[in-house]
Amino acid sequence: MAAAIKDMASGMMEKLHLTSKHTEEAALPEPSADEVKELREAYTKAGQEQVFAFWDILEKTEQAALYQQLSGIDPEYVNSITDRALNPPKAESEDATPKLEPLPDTALSSIYDSASGDLSKWYDAGLQYVANGEVGVVLMAGGQGTRLGSSAPKGCFNIGLPSEKSLFQLQAERIWKIQKLAEHKHNKENVVVPWYIMTSGPTRKPTEEFFEKHAYFGLEKENVVFFEQGTLPCISNDGKILLETKSRVAVAPDGNGGIYPALIGTGIVANMKKRGIKHIHAYCVDNCLVRVADPTFIGFAASKEVDIATKVVRKRNAKESVGLILQKNGKPDVVEYSEIDTETAEAKDAKDSSLLKFRAANIVNHYYSYGFLESIPEWAHKLPHHIARKKIPYVDTEKGETIKPEKPNGIKLEQFVFDCFPFLSMDKFACMEVKREDEFSPLKNARGTGEDDPDTSKRDISAQGTRWIQAAGGVVESENADAGVEVSPKISYGGEGLEFLHGRTLKAPAVIEVEKQ
Ligand code: UTP
Repeated sequence: MAAAIKDMASGMMEKLHLTSKHTEEAALPEPSADEVKELREAYTKAGQEQVFAFWDILEKTEQAALYQQLSGIDPEYVNSITDRALNPPKAESEDATPKLEPLPDTALSSIYDSASGDLSKWYDAGLQYVANGEVGVVLMAGGQGTRLGSSAPKGCFNIGLPSEKSLFQLQAERIWKIQKLAEHKHNKENVVVPWYIMTSGPTRKPTEEFFEKHAYFGLEKENVVFFEQGTLPCISNDGKILLETKSRVAVAPDGNGGIYPALIGTGIVANMKKRGIKHIHAYCVDNCLVRVADPTFIGFAASKEVDIATKVVRKRNAKESVGLILQKNGKPDVVEYSEIDTETAEAKDAKDSSLLKFRAANIVNHYYSYGFLESIPEWAHKLPHHIARKKIPYVDTEKGETIKPEKPNGIKLEQFVFDCFPFLSMDKFACMEVKREDEFSPLKNARGTGEDDPDTSKRDISAQGTRWIQAAGGVVESENADAGVEVSPKISYGGEGLEFLHGRTLKAPAVIEVEKQ
C-alpha cells in the first residue's frame, strides 16, 4: 500500500495541474528555441499568448524563469476551471432549490447535553490514540491574511497577550502538552503527535524561519513537517492570465481546499502511513482557542467510525455571517450565509424553539480518518474552484506599465476544504457542537476593527484563563473588565491541572507560565 501511495503522490500534483516549485532564477537552464516555440504555441492555442508579451526584451535569466513558471501551468486547464467557476454546471447552481435539513441526530453530539460519561469515554479513548502514536495534526497556514494586513504569516502574529506568544507558539504548546498528558496517563515516554504545517509560496519561507528562530517551540524538529500547497494563476475579468511582472505570472495559493492534492502530492499521507497515523485533526491557523489534537473530539469521531467529523459552534443569531454545516439533498455540506433566505435562517428548532433550526456554525476544525485521506486521489479532481474577485497588481501587456488597481480587477481561483463533504454518505460524517468561548476566536481583521481582531483574540484567551482559574477555586481581581489571566498551554490544555491555584488571588492582567508561581 505504501508503494501505491508513493506512486499516486508522484502523479498527483501533475494530474491536478498544480505548480509549487520555487527555483532560484540564476540556477535555471535556458530553454532552447524549439522548447520556447512549443510552449508559446500551447499558450497561443489557449488564447493566453499575452504571457509572452515581453519575452523579446527579457534578460536570459528572466526568460529562463518565465519559461520554467509557464511550463508548470496548463493554460487549457486554467481556462477550463475558470470557465467552470464563472459558469457552474446546472447541478451546482442554485437554479434547482436544494433541500436543506439539519444534520440527523445520529450524526450530532453537543458538548452542552452529552452525558458526562460519554465525554470522558471519548477523552480517554482519544488520549489512548495519542499515546499509541496514532494521532497527527494538519495545520492550514497557506493563506495570505490580507484582511489582517501583516506582512508576516498570520501564525507569527503576536495578539498582545502578556506572554507575547504568537498563534504558532500557542498551538505548538498545546501539542506539547497533549503529548505530556498522554505520556503521564499511559506511563510512556516520547509520545509524538506529528504536526504537518501547510504553507504556500508566500508563507513557506517566513514560516520555516520563524519556527527555526524559536527552536520549534520545544517540539522536535523532525516532528514538525512543512509542506506547500499549490498555486494558480490570477485571471483578469476577461479571462486572461495576468502578469505580475514582465517575467512572472501573478499567482495565488489555490485555497484551503488545496490541502487535499498537497497532502498526497508532497508525500504527507505517505509520511502518516509510515508513522502509523490513523486519526487526523486539521484546523486553521487563525483560531487562537483551537484545541489542537483534542482527545475528546478524536475519541468521539473514532467511536462513530466516520471519515470526517467537524466541530461547530452555535450560530449567535439568524443574522450572523457564518457558514452552516447541514444536510443538502441528503448529503453533508456547508452552506454560506449568503446562500440561505431569511425564512430558513430564522427557522426555529422543532424540539426547542429557543434555538435556531440551522445553528451549526462552521469553524473549520476537522477530524479525518487516515483511510479517507488515502482516498484523496479518487475524488480530488472533482473539487470545484470558486472565484474570489480581488485587486490584483499586474503589468499592462500593451503599455508595459505596472498597475495597482483600486477596485477588483480580476479573479483568484480557490478550492474550499469542505467541498468534499458531499462526497460522503451521511453515516460517514459526524459533527460535535462545542462552546464558542472555549474553542473559537478567529483572527481575521486588523486591530481596531472590533471584530475577530487581535484584541478579541487576546480578550478571549484571557477570559478563558480567568474562567479556568475560578473553576479551580482561585480568585482573579481586575480593574479593567477586559483584562484576565492568560494560562500557558504548557500548564493547562483545557482547564485541567490548576488545583495549585485553589484559594489564590491573582491580579489581572497576568500570565501563569509555571506551577507554584
Ligand atoms: P481565510 O479564508 O480566512 O484567508 O483562511 P486568510 O488568508 O487567513 O485571510 P484573508 O482572507 O486573506 O484576509 C482560512 C484558513 O485557511 C487557510 C488560512 O491560512 C487560514 O488558516 N488558507 C487559506 C490556506 O491554508 N490556503 C489558502 O490558499 C487560503
